[in-house]
Amino acid sequence: MSGRLIMKLTVAEAAAVTADVSTFAFAHPRRPALPAWVPGAHVDVHLPDGAVRQYSLYGDPAERGLYRIAVKREDAGRGGSRWLHENLKVGGEIFVSAPRNHFALNADAKRHVLVAGGIGVTPLIAMARQLAAEQADFVFHYCARSRESAPLVAALEALCGDRLRLWLSAEGRRLDIAALLDAEAGADLYVCGPSALTEAAEGAAAARGWPEARYHTEHFAARADAGFTPEPFEAVIASSGRVLQVPADRSLLAVLRENGFVRGSSCEIGVCGTCECGYRDGTVIHRDVVLSHAARKTRLMPCVSRARGAITLDL
Ligand code: FES
Repeated sequence: MSGRLIMKLTVAEAAAVTADVSTFAFAHPRRPALPAWVPGAHVDVHLPDGAVRQYSLYGDPAERGLYRIAVKREDAGRGGSRWLHENLKVGGEIFVSAPRNHFALNADAKRHVLVAGGIGVTPLIAMARQLAAEQADFVFHYCARSRESAPLVAALEALCGDRLRLWLSAEGRRLDIAALLDAEAGADLYVCGPSALTEAAEGAAAARGWPEARYHTEHFAARADAGFTPEPFEAVIASSGRVLQVPADRSLLAVLRENGFVRGSSCEIGVCGTCECGYRDGTVIHRDVVLSHAARKTRLMPCVSRARGAITLDL
C-alpha cells in the first residue's frame, strides 16, 4: 500500500537499448500532463502480482506528458525486471505512482560530480540535463563494462559533451573513486550504481571526512547484511503508552499493522522511504538505505529496521 497517487498509465514507447536494458515511456490515457518531478526522482511501478519496483525517471521534466524509465533485466533478481521486459509492450497498461525524490541536486553546490555505474545512470542523466541547461559546473563519470553495455551513453554524450568521462572496464579503464574524491574536495558528489560502487564511494567519503550534506546516493537494492540476525524488541507507542512485542521473525511494520496502525509501504526492503516513522528514544538498528545519518537520530523505516531492547515510536 502506498500513500502516493497511483495512476493507470499507457505504455507509449518501448525499446531495447542494450542486450539487457530496455527503456519505456508511460503516458496518461486522457491527461496531457503527469504530476511534476525534478531530477533524481523515481516512481513505483506496480506489477500484476502485487510487487512494487522503484525506477528513476531519466527523461526531461519539461516533457510533462511522459515518464521515462530504463529497466535492466536481472534474471537472478526477484522477477520484476523480467516481467517488465517480457510483458510491457506499446499500448499496454501499468500502474505507476507519482514521483518521489530522495536524491535531489543541491542548489547551493559550487560544483557537481556525478558518478554512475551501469543502469545507475538513469537519475543522473536527468540531473546532467538540468545542470547543462543551467550552465552549472559539473562533471559526469560513467562506469560500465563496455560502450555496448552502457545504457543511454549516446544521450549522455549529447548532454555532457567534454564533461563526460567514460570508464570502460573492458578497455582497462576503471574509476579510482578515492583519487576522484581527493581531486574534487569542495564539490557535491552524487553516486548511483551497483552496491560495489556506492559502498566504495561511501567508504572513501567517510575516510576523508567528506561532509554528509555533500554526499548524495541512490540505492535500489536492499542493504547487503546477510549475516544480520534479528532479535525481538519492544515498541512503545508514545501517544498511548501501549507496548507492542516485535518477535524476531516479524517486522516492526507488520506488527504495527496487526495492531491497527495504518502504515503505507511500497518496497518493504528499506529502499523507497514510504513507511518512514518517527521515534523518540531507544537504540535503533537502521537497515534502510534511504535515511541520512542526521535523519536516523529521529526517523526509522519500520519495514526493515529493528531495535535493541525498547524504542518509543512517535505514534
Ligand atoms: S516500504 Fe520502502 S522503505 Fe519501508
